[in-house]
Amino acid sequence: MPERGFPEGHERFVDLRSDTVTRPTKAMYDAMRDAVLGDDVLGDEPTVARLEALAAEKTGKEAAVFVPSGTMGNQIALACHTQPGDAVIFEEEAHMLYYEVGAPGVLSGVVSWTLPSERGAPDPDEVEKRVLRASLHTPGTRVVCLENSHNRKGGAVIPLETHRAYRRMADRHGIALHLDGARVFNGAVALGVPVRAIAETVDSINFCLSKGLRSPIGSVLCGCGAFIEKARVWRKRLGGGMRQAGLLAACGIVSLTQEVERLAEDHRRAKAIAVALDQLPGISVDVAGVETNIVRVNVDRAPEWSRQLERRGVLCLPFSATVLRLVLHADVDDEQASRAIAAFAEVAAQTAR
Ligand SMILES: Cc1ncc(COP(=O)(O)O)c(C=O)c1O
Repeated sequence: MPERGFPEGHERFVDLRSDTVTRPTKAMYDAMRDAVLGDDVLGDEPTVARLEALAAEKTGKEAAVFVPSGTMGNQIALACHTQPGDAVIFEEEAHMLYYEVGAPGVLSGVVSWTLPSERGAPDPDEVEKRVLRASLHTPGTRVVCLENSHNRKGGAVIPLETHRAYRRMADRHGIALHLDGARVFNGAVALGVPVRAIAETVDSINFCLSKGLRSPIGSVLCGCGAFIEKARVWRKRLGGGMRQAGLLAACGIVSLTQEVERLAEDHRRAKAIAVALDQLPGISVDVAGVETNIVRVNVDRAPEWSRQLERRGVLCLPFSATVLRLVLHADVDDEQASRAIAAFAEVAAQTAR
């Protein structure tokens, strides 16, 4: 296996910035070496085709398309569901709005409406009140975008019953549901259900292979056959057609076959860290709210805490002026989790002085 690409001394860090920092597993390097390759833009990439078939099977959808990133998969879905001038409903801190640099307006030309929520899932009745019929005056609501698990809401999971309520509401109005399922496998593991139980409530779902599932690159957008045909055109239009993409798809197949159940370990460590940090002076954590692999830590000055922690070998991102986000993943084991807790304890003691 090649040397890990850390800068000098970096291995010593406990890297809790994101689950995207995971390095490929040995099984992934083996799968890349052995992958049968073709040209996916010419439509004859056998390993990409295998990954897409597997993704469709896991989500219970008719078809799937492999894309370079979660952002591209989400934005292709939005472009396929809408026409310029349509309205789209999002939870107010949805990744698709918050972190995709205005793409819904720039690429799809849609009007974005937002609704607040405590745990990433706006009340379906409130969503329904916002649905607009297209008229001479108003844009018509075409799609509601959901996020499970919800990144900015600390990895919160949308309960299955809420998903089903969104489905009933969407059917009443003839509108579509898209799920940003970047971490939907975390959501499914936390709910104790297969991903298809969530996916069957939405029209399209995009999930990431390159987060807790440890692939280096890639996401898969899944939906009905006609939708995915349209998505392939959008992928090409955006420059997302890739040639010997089987090298990456081979890793994705390992992700889906070997890495899903392991996510429960990340959830267990996230909870353990939350419990420990909540007991330290100057820190509070909503322990019950830690459902998956993300922990939101409330402190007085998040950027300063982040700098102090980095000096002690722990990397994490300030999420706001008073919140740090910690993300657990396969490259953080129990020993590293303990080191992170010890570093927090040191900074807490110093701050309390
Ligand atoms: C909820 C959510 N959706 C989408 C994405 C986008 O994925 P990518 O970074 O592959 O574009 C992310 C990335 O962190 C995410 O957390």
